[in-house]
Amino acid sequence: MPPSPAPPSRPVRVALPGGRGYDVHFRPLADVPALLAGAGLAPGLGLVVTDASVGPLSLDRARGPLRAAGWRPEATAVPAGEASKSLHQLAALYDWALGLGLDRATPLLALGGGVVGDLAGFAAATLLRGLPLVHLPTSVIAQVDSAVGGKTGINHAAGKNLVGAFHQPRLVLADPATLATLPERDFRSGLAEVVKHALLEGEAAVARLEADLERVLAREPAALAGTIRRAAAFKAAVVAEDEREAGRRAVLNLGHTFAHAIEQAEGYGRLTHGEAVALGLRAALHLSASVRAGRVWTEPALPERFVRADRLAARLPLPHALTAPTEALLAAMGTDKKRAGTRLRFVVLDALGRPRVTPDVPPGAVEAAWTHARTVAGLTAPS
Ligand code: GLY
Repeated sequence: MPPSPAPPSRPVRVALPGGRGYDVHFRPLADVPALLAGAGLAPGLGLVVTDASVGPLSLDRARGPLRAAGWRPEATAVPAGEASKSLHQLAALYDWALGLGLDRATPLLALGGGVVGDLAGFAAATLLRGLPLVHLPTSVIAQVDSAVGGKTGINHAAGKNLVGAFHQPRLVLADPATLATLPERDFRSGLAEVVKHALLEGEAAVARLEADLERVLAREPAALAGTIRRAAAFKAAVVAEDEREAGRRAVLNLGHTFAHAIEQAEGYGRLTHGEAVALGLRAALHLSASVRAGRVWTEPALPERFVRADRLAARLPLPHALTAPTEALLAAMGTDKKRAGTRLRFVVLDALGRPRVTPDVPPGAVEAAWTHARTVAGLTAPS
């Protein structure tokens, strides 16, 4: 018997000042016209940007109801994958959108995962100096992280996300049904950000995820809906506290200085972003142990206070192989945009729910964290 659908979740509010707050709704894509109306957007031309994987599955589920409500939706699909976060695809979006006779009231709807959201979001931030942006995230990463908080951008040869803008959406509609059709690798990859949010939030969130993870991995609707909502709510709270990453928001980069280096050194696309984050979390926990000890942590087991976090990250059954040499990974870290001045800054955990950003790591600790990541890569559960 198929699992019964999860009960509808309450929206999550991203509480921003100046009337810029917005809701993250967990409802069917068919509800998009009603939500646009609720956000003060009147029917007319609507630009829908999707990708070649998501479009065939989900585009008509949004476009049909939009047409029925009096909208004139125009859609385009970029190739699926990280390579689309490029100047080339951005220029193609500009050509397409400007050819349609848009004005400043024309909303741009980003239907897809993190790549579509970041690329289309940046197009929305810059076309006519800013179009209303609506995120329709269809992946785990997008629903719990990238569609919430207004970061948009593209990659540059010098590193990930180096060209971009903050541009908050008018609303986010995360349809739980879109997660049912995600390829298994993408689905599991996204859970790395869910684990990251739980480690940052604290012990209760970790306990909840520990209890639910098997059912989440099986995509059991109620467990999945609850987990996605909680992770999105955590992100929303952090963004509300520090919209522009002047302080607290930087903790969301736990594992990401390592993860971005992995993606760059391995070559974009060999590992998914989530797979890189899962490994980056393991490396960040090792670095946290070194920082806490005030010396490079060399013992085979992590200190007791980090074991629970590490075990949770290790339960993500991802293909973790790390093939780039440590020198290449260290070189790639040099271009991470979280560098402050000439010193790298890392997010470390002092304990569950107690992250901290620090440039002060013992000499050799980053190299040791990479060695640890390489070692655990062979030890984690197979996919
Ligand atoms: N994904 C990290 C942030 O939005 O700040």
